[in-house]
Amino acid sequence: MPDRHVVLSATGLYTPPFSISNDELVDSFNQYVRRYNAENAESIASGSLKALSESSADFIDKASGIHSRFVLEKDGILNPDIMRPQFVKRSDDELSLHAEIGIAAANQALAKAGLHGSDIDMVLVANSNMQRPYPSISVEIQAALGAGGFAFDMSVACSSATFGLQTAADAIKSGSATRVLIVNAEMCSAQLNYRERDSHFIFGDAATAIVLERNDLAAAGLGFNVLSTQLWTQFSNNIRSNFGFLNRCEIGNDPLSADKLFIQQGRKVFKEVCPAVSEHITHHLSAQNISPQNIKRFWLHQANRAMNELISRRVLGRDATEEEAPLILDRYANTSSAGSIIALHLHQADLQNGDLGVLCSFGAGYSIGSAILEKR
Ligand SMILES: CC(C)(COP(=O)(O)OP(=O)(O)OC[C@H]1O[C@@H](n2cnc3c(N)ncnc32)[C@H](O)[C@@H]1OP(=O)(O)O)[C@@H](O)C(=O)NCCC(=O)NCCS
Repeated sequence: MPDRHVVLSATGLYTPPFSISNDELVDSFNQYVRRYNAENAESIASGSLKALSESSADFIDKASGIHSRFVLEKDGILNPDIMRPQFVKRSDDELSLHAEIGIAAANQALAKAGLHGSDIDMVLVANSNMQRPYPSISVEIQAALGAGGFAFDMSVACSSATFGLQTAADAIKSGSATRVLIVNAEMCSAQLNYRERDSHFIFGDAATAIVLERNDLAAAGLGFNVLSTQLWTQFSNNIRSNFGFLNRCEIGNDPLSADKLFIQQGRKVFKEVCPAVSEHITHHLSAQNISPQNIKRFWLHQANRAMNELISRRVLGRDATEEEAPLILDRYANTSSAGSIIALHLHQADLQNGDLGVLCSFGAGYSIGSAILEKR
């Protein structure tokens, strides 16, 4: 019997105010490259330094499907002297930026669910990165919304949304929570190396929120039954960030060196993760006696267009249509844990009662998580 105890009643989305096109990003990157090559001309000529290669908007479009990305701050990223977002430092008494964008998404989800913050008894912030280790961003959001119960932060990189979803669903099933707010608030621009040609185009910023409720508490006809969830991890160094609290203590380690930002072996990730994700989804559906052909929608993690096309093709045995496996990465790029939830948020209104969908996120770890959802 499928598990019908938990309802995903509403979603919310915060989209940052600024968008950067591939052309703008490449123009800034290429200014940096030309300056670097000119300043190091002698060393490059003598062979002691390698010249940097320029980036191309055409390559980015073809290799990833990304046309633009939303960011919280644009000028610093595009300034070839800075090449990172710049935020005004807030005092400890002000709401943190991370909590602010999470709350913007959370308020939308709560309003759609017909709830107030005080109805929530568990807040989970599940992201790739946290603005600080403590106090938890989730506890800050819990206080700002007037939620009760308890709150904690967790991180499973790009898979944080589905890992959060299973954690929240388990809490509801066990009775330790009745209504959970999950926030995926991703400030990916702050962990991206805008001076690295292989990855400078990959990420964008966004925050999403979902409300999970015990089914007897959820308003009739709202959202989805969470039929089943499944998680998987297997260690890999192919997506990595060495940023951490030991950086300043490690002898010989430069706390500002590039390995403290996002680094990946993109081609290896592509080759290894696609089969793992399609097998994961196929096994999850088969364990629930559901044929992939009965799935109306796949809300997949949004990292790369070809990856999503390959995964859905392997699961379905044919190409998925745009309606079946919608893409949002053309406008949002990879927003880490928020990506599959943005797809869910923007592509659910047409579903009918009883329609089935698969939410699936995947990424560093490696990690893969999926949830089978049934429209109520
Ligand atoms: C990152 C990714 C888009 C790169 O695409 P790719 O087709 O694998 O590209 P490669 O890195 O193999 O590079 C192919 C060529 O393009 C070049 N290239 C790389 N970046 C470039 C850029 N910005 N502009 C122009 N050319 C570029 C490379 O130098 C290489 O040239 P070569 O063939 O002469 O050696 C792709 O590998 C990917 O999306 N992987 C999965 C990433 C992912 O999902 N990560 C998970 C994060 S959650």
